[in-house]
Amino acid sequence: MYVHVPFCATRCGYCDFNTYTAQELGPGATRSTYADTVIAEIRLARAAIADDRSVETVFVGGGTPTLLGAPDLVRILDAVSQEFGLAPGAEVTTEANPDSVDPAMLAHLREGGFTRISLGVQSLATHVLATLDRTHEPGRSLAAIAEARHAGFEHVSADLIYATPGETNDDVRESVSAVIEAGIDHLSAYSLIVEEGTRLAAHVRRGTIAAPDDDVAAERYVLIDELATSAGLDWYEVSNWARPGGECRHNLGYWTDQDWWGAGPGAHGHMAGRRWWNIKHPVAYAQCVEVSRLPVAGEETVDDAGRELERVMLGMRLVQGMDPDGLPDAEVSDLLALRLIELQVHDQHGVRIALTRQGRLVADAVVRRLTP
Ligand SMILES: C[S@@+](CC[C@H](N)C(=O)[O-])C[C@H]1O[C@@H](n2cnc3c(N)ncnc32)[C@H](O)[C@@H]1O
Ligand code: SF4
Repeated sequence: MYVHVPFCATRCGYCDFNTYTAQELGPGATRSTYADTVIAEIRLARAAIADDRSVETVFVGGGTPTLLGAPDLVRILDAVSQEFGLAPGAEVTTEANPDSVDPAMLAHLREGGFTRISLGVQSLATHVLATLDRTHEPGRSLAAIAEARHAGFEHVSADLIYATPGETNDDVRESVSAVIEAGIDHLSAYSLIVEEGTRLAAHVRRGTIAAPDDDVAAERYVLIDELATSAGLDWYEVSNWARPGGECRHNLGYWTDQDWWGAGPGAHGHMAGRRWWNIKHPVAYAQCVEVSRLPVAGEETVDDAGRELERVMLGMRLVQGMDPDGLPDAEVSDLLALRLIELQVHDQHGVRIALTRQGRLVADAVVRRLTP
């Protein structure tokens, strides 16, 4: 189960997620009524799904879910649990901004059944945070990690963004070392993407912020990989590292073609080969749920060719790679000769091909060569 929370206190200049500040939303969709609306969708979902499996993972993402406060987040989780049941040992994550949590809130979330926190740290360099329009001080991120651990969260993740213009290798080195030192068991690191329509894109167009450089991003990726690996966090997906057992089971579900319900404005769902997406704007979304209709904006059925394409696109990004059977032989041989992929023999999975570190730097190009 994915639950989207489309609110942020301010919008970061680089971000094009489906999220809104109070000012952008105006009246008609408020944070105070949001939990009830999404709970109503979860109840409609229960009635629509002819499937009695319990939920293995819940991921509350955003936006900034923690802006709702712990009582609302726990109420949403309780509704998932009442309607579907949580499987024993279910993973329950919420994303959080470092400046939207405090010790009391983290304790409440932990007691209420959340098992994992994913904090948007982005960087610990003040000048990088300023370029990214982040509102928190570097020290706040480290304190939030420590507070989450203290509240009893065994699983704490940090998101970092690298290759921001003006950032140095030392900035990255210090950010990665400090978040690991503070107690995370999972790291996501994304190279800064200039998304169309964002303030960052306008700056880049005007030349007031330089465009991120691909070669710098590659160098930073290698640095992050070395630092994480030497601290005991192994890569398990191109942009994700974890201590053994700290892998995000929810995201692994997306990457291995599992079924999930996506609740909230703009959320995507996928069950039994059918994919759908919800109405994007929170006001229109809420109006639909209020009249007891599922807020679906569109849907598609993924055909066999589409499924195979996704299997390669997502499977090749994972550490265990994939079975080369059915992939184009000449391309596989060529990529092996270029050392962008390597052959592995797994007890569990048999013969596989997987990305080398060099291959991870050009993962999209590798996938393109392996797909029609
Ligand atoms: C939906 S955000 C939620 C996290 C939370 N709202 C926060 O920002 O602290 C998930 C992550 O996506 C990443 N992200 C968003 N836009 C990005 C971009 N344009 N380039 C690279 N990473 C981006 C950030 O690392 C962010 O933490
Ligand atoms: S990065 Fe996070 S806090 Fe910033 S606008 Fe996007 S969702 Fe909101």
